[in-house]
Amino acid sequence: MTTLRNKLKLAATTAARITATALCATLAITMASQHATAQTKQQTKQQKQKHSFQTADGSFLLDGKPFIVKAAELHYPRIPKEYWEHRIQMCKALGMNTICLYVFWNLHEPSPDNFDFSGNADVRLFCQLAQKNDMWVILRPGPYVCAEWEMGGLPWWLLKHKGITLRDDEEPYFLNRVAIFEKQVANQLADLTIDKGGPIIMVQVENEYGSYAEDKSYVAKVRDTLRQAGFDTVTLFQCDWASNFTKNGLDDLVWTMNFGTGADITKQFQKLRQLRPTAPLMCSEFWSGWFDKWGAKHETRPADKMVSGITQMIQQGISFSLYMTHGGTSFGHWAGANSPGFAPDVTSYDYDAPINEQGAPTQKYHLLRETLAKFSENPLPDIPKNIPLTTIDTIAQWTFTPLDKNAATTTTSDSPLPFEDLDLGWGYAIYKGPNFKPQAKWAELEFDALHDYAIVSLDNGAWTQTVNRTINQQSIRIPDNMLGQQHSIEILVEAMGRINFGRAIEDHKGITNAVRLVTPGDKPQQLNGWTITTIPDDYASIAKACKAYQQKTNMGQVNKRQGLNKAGHYRATFKVDKPADTFLNLSLWGKGQAYVNGHPLGRYWSIGPQQTLYLPGAWLKKGKNEIIITDIKGPRQLKAWGQTTPELNLLQPDTENRPPRPARPDLGLYTPIASGTLPNDAPAATIALHTPAQASSIALEILTTHGAKQTAIAEIIALDKDGKQISRDNWEATYASSDDTQSGNNTPSKAFDLQESTFWQSAPKAKAPHLIVIDLGQTTTISKLLIFTKEGQDKTTAPAQYRLLAK
Ligand code: GLA
Ligand code: CA
Repeated sequence: MTTLRNKLKLAATTAARITATALCATLAITMASQHATAQTKQQTKQQKQKHSFQTADGSFLLDGKPFIVKAAELHYPRIPKEYWEHRIQMCKALGMNTICLYVFWNLHEPSPDNFDFSGNADVRLFCQLAQKNDMWVILRPGPYVCAEWEMGGLPWWLLKHKGITLRDDEEPYFLNRVAIFEKQVANQLADLTIDKGGPIIMVQVENEYGSYAEDKSYVAKVRDTLRQAGFDTVTLFQCDWASNFTKNGLDDLVWTMNFGTGADITKQFQKLRQLRPTAPLMCSEFWSGWFDKWGAKHETRPADKMVSGITQMIQQGISFSLYMTHGGTSFGHWAGANSPGFAPDVTSYDYDAPINEQGAPTQKYHLLRETLAKFSENPLPDIPKNIPLTTIDTIAQWTFTPLDKNAATTTTSDSPLPFEDLDLGWGYAIYKGPNFKPQAKWAELEFDALHDYAIVSLDNGAWTQTVNRTINQQSIRIPDNMLGQQHSIEILVEAMGRINFGRAIEDHKGITNAVRLVTPGDKPQQLNGWTITTIPDDYASIAKACKAYQQKTNMGQVNKRQGLNKAGHYRATFKVDKPADTFLNLSLWGKGQAYVNGHPLGRYWSIGPQQTLYLPGAWLKKGKNEIIITDIKGPRQLKAWGQTTPELNLLQPDTENRPPRPARPDLGLYTPIASGTLPNDAPAATIALHTPAQASSIALEILTTHGAKQTAIAEIIALDKDGKQISRDNWEATYASSDDTQSGNNTPSKAFDLQESTFWQSAPKAKAPHLIVIDLGQTTTISKLLIFTKEGQDKTTAPAQYRLLAK
């Protein structure tokens, strides 16, 4: 608990910071507005007539006439700037009339008061290109955007402010930073709203806040901030889910719903229709596909269902935005991570969208285009030509530079420090600890906490072991033959994307607090005395380090054995005759990031499912090109090449040291706490316990189903004895009798990923009884479970008789 004195102290430092930042902000605003003025001149040339966009009589009105928004979601930083117009034209040719986009705060403000709206961050130009192509724009300036983007778009440096609460009404520092940022956004874009002759028809306030908290006053503050910044004449809206939009719904904002392919459209709008019978209806995110995480199969959604959802909406006069119409790529370190648990997203944001990662039309595109053509007054424009593709011959000659040659800072500290305290946003750090001597029957090193992936090395690499947060590892066992001796320890930690969804978005990186030696019978012993070296993920410094090291050592090419399985920077050059797009195959490498001609392509990891990185032709040169790969595990073979098709669905689990899949647990160790029959076709069924039960793990046995088909569960929510939702942040599916990863990625963790559109499904041939076992991450008292079935139970059958057990 924060004491009053602490609160006052906090307020005082916050006030001091605010004054300082306000001063810098004024400077930055002046500079940015000069830049904006230059751009406005350019805009005046393209300036179109002023129009009006309003809501009335159950629909949106464009210049007073009913208008169905058919929006295509595109994210400008996920597309190389050179291809922006191509992608916009692809959306237009698909039959869309609007581009919907987020504004990514952390892209535009890399450090406090240092703003960037240039190059690939030139969101103003992106909107102008939309207008040039007769497309309207829906702007979603956050501040939080989710989007499978690092920290949901929030800048990591917010975490330097100790004890900060994000997206919170009572956090003046956060709200002040939001105001400064939104002012910058308005400087870029507020004169582009429709009433001023620009393309922007609507602006979104926050993002799905109902899945985070219940706090109308916070949402109202964000609304007011946007208005004060300059978005004061345009229609403002908020988006949420049908199940929670009333939590934070403000009377003066348009309400829109988010849901995905396969959802029951009528049900999704039922409540909104009741509450606001004359309001326009819009699905602000109709999910065309889904995102991928490392270590799980590539996600897809059926094209016919997506098209039928859109058809139904248009027929009922419902507006929509297709999220994503083209997903593109989370280049560099921009991919985020999903939660509960820690599920970092892959680099490709292909999303199984109609326009694939490389900008080419898919089957889904053609199917949707046929449909949208029928609803279009005018014939659709021709589909733009594909961007050409090329191969790149195997690159086999590399130089090697040890990882720490790119060290930026070295700090000593009693306890290990998180990256943020070391001024490191992204990248790696080496934590060198005190020598220690484990004296017992067994010994473990426990991390509190390790974010996100580490290679622990004892005695200068005599023994190494990986620690992997994505599979909940937070400790390692010291081998028995190393007990009773003194050891030195070095831990190389790699940060992956910060969590972008749920309550866990305050996601510090590195070793966040402590490392302890745990032995039987003794109190855990904290290891104190660390030297921490930061290694930034930054092309310029890596390239410099490679050059300096090669000059000094004159090492030349690495011979095959030297370079294998070693952490370091690998550099090579390769020739290109005709620059064109390609997919860089890194399936023989370990884990890291690749840069070509200075452009960060993103993260790769041998476990897959993604094995190739999209390399845009626009970033290649005719003749000699440079590639640098930073790999913390090292390649298994020194080979990389470019191919014309992506590999997004190849899992290589054997390349990672993973614990074996847990066996079916012994239910004899569990106590039955409830049993009964769940109703058929109820969106949410309740399992109420006679008396609340303590549990650290629950087992749900589905003894029978309401029919003979596969069964599914979309979400399981547990309530405590006061009826409050128990946090699912640390839940882990430890067992499922079967799952269906053939028709989709319907693994058991989908039953508590906080997404109603995703679900666990039993395997096609598996018959009841089915069993799911969930580790709750802590011991809690449960009074009720809410079970959400899959929407539109077409192919599946709801669970019927069940037995719930606890341990
Ligand atoms: C939500 C968010 C989006 C995105 C999708 C899933 O709807 O609003 O930003 O994260 O989920 O892709
Ligand atoms: Ca789910």
